[in-house]
Amino acid sequence: MDEIHIVGGKKICGSIVVQGSKNTVLPLMAASLLHAGVSVLRGCPRITDVFCMEEILQRLGAVTWWKEHDLYLDCTRANGTEVPEQYAGKMRCSVILLGALLGRWQKGAIGYPGGCVIGKRPVDLHLYALRSLGAEITEQEGMLHASARKLKGGEIFFAKKSVGATEQAVLAAVLAEGKTVIRNCAEEPEILWLCRYLRSMGARICGEGGPCIEIEGVSALQGGEMKIPADRIVTGTYLCAAAATRGKVTIPNAPEGELDAFLEVYRKMGGQYEWKSGKLIANGMGIRFPVEYLETAVYPGFPTDLQSPLLAVLATVDGESCIKENIFENRFRICQELAEMGAEVQTDGRKVKIRGGRLAGCRVRAGELRGGAALVIAALAAEGYSVVEGNSFIRRGYENLCGDLRAAGGLITEDTGSIYI
Ligand code: EPZ
Repeated sequence: MDEIHIVGGKKICGSIVVQGSKNTVLPLMAASLLHAGVSVLRGCPRITDVFCMEEILQRLGAVTWWKEHDLYLDCTRANGTEVPEQYAGKMRCSVILLGALLGRWQKGAIGYPGGCVIGKRPVDLHLYALRSLGAEITEQEGMLHASARKLKGGEIFFAKKSVGATEQAVLAAVLAEGKTVIRNCAEEPEILWLCRYLRSMGARICGEGGPCIEIEGVSALQGGEMKIPADRIVTGTYLCAAAATRGKVTIPNAPEGELDAFLEVYRKMGGQYEWKSGKLIANGMGIRFPVEYLETAVYPGFPTDLQSPLLAVLATVDGESCIKENIFENRFRICQELAEMGAEVQTDGRKVKIRGGRLAGCRVRAGELRGGAALVIAALAAEGYSVVEGNSFIRRGYENLCGDLRAAGGLITEDTGSIYI
């Protein structure tokens, strides 16, 4: 059953330990391919995007195994250079494997990752970065083929900031000959974690977290080992669930310093929070103010991945809020569903205006990961019964959304047999 069943109206209150970060672990899995040996990623989220990347690495000849949440990757015998086409569409971020394959084998091929429901998702910046390091790239029958006698360090200047393209450039540069300078690179925490992981493998990198990363290529890397940090977007999602239901949550392992822009908005809405010996305590009982105007932005701005969860909170707040989505061109998919639940919503290109109030439960359908989580949040706040279709989208990035929220007081289940109205 691909449905989540919810009876709304219960406050989300309690302590929730957050899973490891999806957008950190995926590039680290790709980076593990750069070493012909064993690497270990501790505290990995057991989500379908990780299982998909694991399957791709296995198809390339890697051997992987789990010990609880620790993922072992043995790339000793990995010898494949072609990622079967069906994977690129299934998980777009697999495109960064090109940089790792070029680094390891000086060639690689992957299906052209199409767009998705939130936007066209071009890869021009990825290809520009690889070409800047000497790769030749052709597209044949929907496959991208890249090759280079030997990647050479070079100058890369990104016309716009891109998380994936920055990861692509870093993965290709660490084993290239000579120095690479990457300017106007993304500054998201995921970039810092990737660079730290590669440095633990022997890469020579500096500047991550700022606008310019410098890499001195090395001839080989050793095995990496890293504890995956808590997922900042999942943390924000749980704070939104508490805010929408006027509850209070403690996140014992929240990634301090990675959520400032979100927490600023949380406070503007009337929420209160404090960091206490590494724990984030967030009280949503006072949430009542609309957000007059907010724009999503690259880090450290307000993250696009929390735009939909925030919208679900604003659907429960009297008064008009306005959000401008600057990163993706089609990230307001849940507006129609929120309107069906009772919110007044107007979208105009990249802007949405929402006037919230009392929501009524109904059957809604998720079309992508963060929108799905946002619909769960709205349903938890709505009066009565809701069904959120499309749990498979949610499971791509949330290991146990339903279980975590049920443990915190939500009447929510993936198994329709176990909820009493
Ligand atoms: C990463 O996607 C994340 N995914 C996304 O999270 C996140 O929303 C996004 O960064 C922005 O923070 C992973 O890390 C796996 P971008 P990515 O390249 O790398 C344009 C989630 O819900 N662009 O920073 O694909 C692009 O169209 C997902 O967990 C180009 O124009 O994002 C977008 O407008 C959703 N050319 C902007 O840049 C390119 O070659 C930012 O995209 C690449 C991107």
